[in-house]
Amino acid sequence: GSVVLAYSGGLDTSCILVWLKEQGYDVIAYLANTGQKEDFQEPGAKNVFIEDVSREFVEEFIWPAIRSSTLYEDRYLLGTSLARPCIACKQVEVAQREGAKYVYHGTMGKGNDQVRFELTCYSLFKGHNDLMEYSKQRGIPIPATPKNPWNMDENLMHISYEAGILENPKNQAPPGLYTKTQDQAKAPNIPDILEIEFRKGVSMKVTNIKDSATLQTALELFMYLNKVAGKHGVGTVIVENRFIGMKSRGIHGAPAGTILYHAHLDTKAFTVDREVHKIKQSLGLKFTELVYTGFCPECEFVRHCITKSQERVEGKVQVSVLKGQVYIPGRESPLSLYNEELVSMNVQGDYEPIDATGFININSLNKVTTK
Ligand code: ARG
Ligand code: SIN
Repeated sequence: GSVVLAYSGGLDTSCILVWLKEQGYDVIAYLANTGQKEDFQEPGAKNVFIEDVSREFVEEFIWPAIRSSTLYEDRYLLGTSLARPCIACKQVEVAQREGAKYVYHGTMGKGNDQVRFELTCYSLFKGHNDLMEYSKQRGIPIPATPKNPWNMDENLMHISYEAGILENPKNQAPPGLYTKTQDQAKAPNIPDILEIEFRKGVSMKVTNIKDSATLQTALELFMYLNKVAGKHGVGTVIVENRFIGMKSRGIHGAPAGTILYHAHLDTKAFTVDREVHKIKQSLGLKFTELVYTGFCPECEFVRHCITKSQERVEGKVQVSVLKGQVYIPGRESPLSLYNEELVSMNVQGDYEPIDATGFININSLNKVTTK
């Protein structure tokens, strides 16, 4: 029968492709381009489909995450987790179109992606060393040479490095590891100042104040932000808890995602009601967890609730990007709930300080201690 393999060009899927052929399957290699920089080589399958899904990835997967302020365990913008369902959906489409009986995914069987792809049968290889050996025997060209002894996953949202020498959490990122972001020490000393405009929680427009280039489509905008943030070395180093229980060490860099995360957060803080925001925050936490583990029906439900909370997220923020940092020096919004009169220390405002006396009395009722 035929099998559609989600092929990445990496070590794992290159070996699996050969192995599947050896088992007598007709292999259709499906390569989803989600924005990774790879020269896709002819993998030697019966059919090869290379599909650019960047636009869908940004509009249907990345944006809902930005709107939810997803940050797994306070640090990870979920670049890999978001791409998996995007690739898997497309892969199933190909299988249906081509009449293939099976779909196949190659993950390391160490937790997350395995679950996300609902992988059922990958257990042949015990680890990367086995695969290196196998690929040598079969003459499979592989990107992870001993010079790059780590594993990568790249798409528009991020690049993630795991495994190999990085598995010891004490080891720093070796020079030359980062490809999406500049080394912060070598990043420019002058910030880029951008103006990012939001409507209903989605960015509509980015303007670089310096050269006043304006970008309009979600994909263009995202790619531009990746360039600017990458130049300034925006990225993160983390240890995380995988779904199945172990802690893992990875280095994930999400340049554009980091800028949009902060810009969106600022606009939201300025325009969304405090109590709505609190509920949205706890839903966002749930959404993050669901995206990480890859469960879908409840994920859809939460996503819809969050969309509702975004109706007022509108405005323009200034964003300064410098030496790995994203800073928001100013913002404005037609829907702002900020009331300068009310908050000002120079203006009396709409209420008397004496109005606060009753409020303070009531709030102190349960705080009175007997002496
Ligand atoms: N641990 C991250 C996740 O589960 C990233 C995994 C992919 N990274 C990699 N270098 N293979 O989403
Ligand atoms: C796996 O899924 O096999 C482990 C690597 C990851 O965190 O995705």
